[in-house]
Amino acid sequence: MYSEKVMDHFNNPRNVGMIPDADGVGQVGNPTCGDIMKIYLKIKDNVIEDIKFKTFGCGAAVATSSMVTELVKGMSLDEAMNVSNQMVAEALDGLPPQKMHCSNLAADALHAAIENYRRKEAGK
Ligand code: FES
Repeated sequence: MYSEKVMDHFNNPRNVGMIPDADGVGQVGNPTCGDIMKIYLKIKDNVIEDIKFKTFGCGAAVATSSMVTELVKGMSLDEAMNVSNQMVAEALDGLPPQKMHCSNLAADALHAAIENYRRKEAGK
């Protein structure tokens, strides 16, 4: 069974959409099921000022995406890099064991978006 928090974030996902002039974009696919998540970041002074996501995946993937955006908004990039899949699942009061793989997308896409931003900055 899903926790109330999972159901809440699935039914009312936060920060859905895209940021057209994003500073960093990360996309990952889940090898277990083929689902895809994309994260867009707006960064100011090394802090995540805005974040949006698009997830083509199951309910648990939508809920974990929504939760990760809430967790990291306002965090520094270093703090956000330390957010793990496990932390996201815990913030949702857990996921059923067979759905734990769905939480991998959220933190991985976030980290990919931060790396994308850092690569762009380094090339400037
Ligand atoms: Fe694909 Fe959940 S079944 S992310």
